[in-house]
Amino acid sequence: MRLDKFLADMGFGSRKEVKGFIKKGLVQVNGVVVKSDKFQVAETSDQVIFEGEQITYQKDFYYLLNKPQGVISATQDNHEETVLDLFADEDYREDLFPVGRLDKDTEGLLLITNDGLLSHQLLSPKKHVEKEYYAHVSGVMTDEDVKAFDEGLVISGDEQTLPAKLTIVSVDEAMSTSKISLVLHEGKFHQVKRMVAAVGKEVTYLKRVRMGNLYLPEDIQLGSYRQLTEEELKALRGE
Ligand code: URA
Repeated sequence: MRLDKFLADMGFGSRKEVKGFIKKGLVQVNGVVVKSDKFQVAETSDQVIFEGEQITYQKDFYYLLNKPQGVISATQDNHEETVLDLFADEDYREDLFPVGRLDKDTEGLLLITNDGLLSHQLLSPKKHVEKEYYAHVSGVMTDEDVKAFDEGLVISGDEQTLPAKLTIVSVDEAMSTSKISLVLHEGKFHQVKRMVAAVGKEVTYLKRVRMGNLYLPEDIQLGSYRQLTEEELKALRGE
């Protein structure tokens, strides 16, 4: 790979900017200053140093974000704050995007990556990757609801869902509210809210806690993110 591409890929500036850094002699490869932007580097074995810092090449980036309410699952928007706006300048890359969508008022686990293949595999309707949600509901969820979810529901009048595993975590009869957990195998638009609405109740709070084998870690604050560990990435890939 060309040296200027290597540095631009690693987020040190545009292709033009990094060419300038190379010409100024700020880049060393295997201990030697290289002033040609065309210089070919072996990205995994050559030692590239930029302004004294050793650069480890990384092609694919995987972040888990604890999405807060009030931000939209998009890369950019003229009016609304997006999940990518939550990224620090040093982590932001133009090729990052969220894997699927959570509603603006939904919190929780959202994967942000530049790996289109993994994203496709996680979202493909054929793969049935599980998504687990925790929700507060206005209304009392019942054993009949559990059965109805287990059989698959018709939502919004004409859309059939796959069977979903509903667990009633707690019910407050006096307040007429419930807390539930729900495991889906598909990702229809507003699916949790529409399934709960189909049994005559309303979601008042929604958080995604799991996608496939990847759980939302408890130590990640709302609005914070970090890169996936190797183990988490393997779990997500089902390895
Ligand atoms: N289901 C919903 O209704 N909203 C979400 O954000 C995710 C699943």
